[in-house]
Amino acid sequence: MIPTPPAIDVRGLGKSFGHSVVLDGLDLTVPRGEIFALLGANGAGKTTTISILTTLQRPDRGSAAVAGFDVAAAPDAVRQRIALTGQSAAVDDTLTGTENLVMLGRLSGLSPRRARARAAELLERFALRDAATRRVGTYSGGMRRRLDLALSFVVVPEVLFLDEPTTGVDPRSRRDLWEVIRSLSDAGTTVFLTTQYLEEADQLADRVAVLDGGRIVATGTPAELKSLVGSDTVVLTGADGAVVREIATDGSVAGLRAAIAELGADEVPDAEVTLRRPTLDDVFLSLTGSPDAAAPAPALDTAKELA
Ligand SMILES: Nc1ncnc2c1ncn2[C@@H]1O[C@H](COP(=O)(O)OP(=O)(O)OP(=O)(O)O)[C@@H](O)[C@H]1O
Ligand SMILES: [Mg+2]
Repeated sequence: MIPTPPAIDVRGLGKSFGHSVVLDGLDLTVPRGEIFALLGANGAGKTTTISILTTLQRPDRGSAAVAGFDVAAAPDAVRQRIALTGQSAAVDDTLTGTENLVMLGRLSGLSPRRARARAAELLERFALRDAATRRVGTYSGGMRRRLDLALSFVVVPEVLFLDEPTTGVDPRSRRDLWEVIRSLSDAGTTVFLTTQYLEEADQLADRVAVLDGGRIVATGTPAELKSLVGSDTVVLTGADGAVVREIATDGSVAGLRAAIAELGADEVPDAEVTLRRPTLDDVFLSLTGSPDAAAPAPALDTAKELA
């Protein structure tokens, strides 16, 4: 039996705009059926990566295959197997929500009846039923966003690309959307998403990669990445609730005792000591070298080993 290729296979991808190098030897592999989250600061190159994987831009160097097809050599084969929701909504303002969905369904080869049924189902799922017959030009930002997302679910793709799917979406709708993404993944669709919400990556993704300096600096499950920034942190807060000091521990009882002794809680009136578990925020801040990083940055070699 021929082994099935991974859903996404990226090798040494490079992309520059003028003198600015955005991707500098990007490597990543996403197995079929996985929910994969790409994290990166503003301008890290997340949208550029998605644009290349969805054939909207060509890489300068390296190769990328999606659903088993090379994005440069067989862009049409790739396009037939993917769906994309971008940061800029691709909806037609002059049409209603229903019309947008039916039109895309028809363009994707659904019969008029199937297209209408699918549109009704998606409007319900994305809480847009009441706005179904209104022109999209009158929608709020969050409603547009939900319609944009609904459009990418008209036909179930092999690989779904979501560029910041829940930016500008209220917390309840965000949870609804996570449910929809999970159910697609359960049905076998591979999901590649970018996000600025680390909680989203934590809740949703099987695996997370951090993009920084044009490369992947760490890959792993959310739990593996959290273990990179060490373990628990003891936090000393003052009477006003403000953090006075934080010390990362190695997770051992002795380490915890030493950290608490080192906090100097006696010098702070009405001090409170709490234990904070690492979050993906800690991982992100320590790996992308933010000055706010609370924990020391792990060696990149360690990070890479998790890939
Ligand atoms: N067409 C273009 N021409 C010139 N520069 C570009 C172009 N597209 C992207 N860039 C630059 O490439 C860098 C990466 O942009 P990209 O949009 O991929 O980042 P991002 O990680 O998606 O950021 P954000 O979180 O803000 O969406 C930025 O510095 C951006 O200004
Ligand atoms: Mg972007």
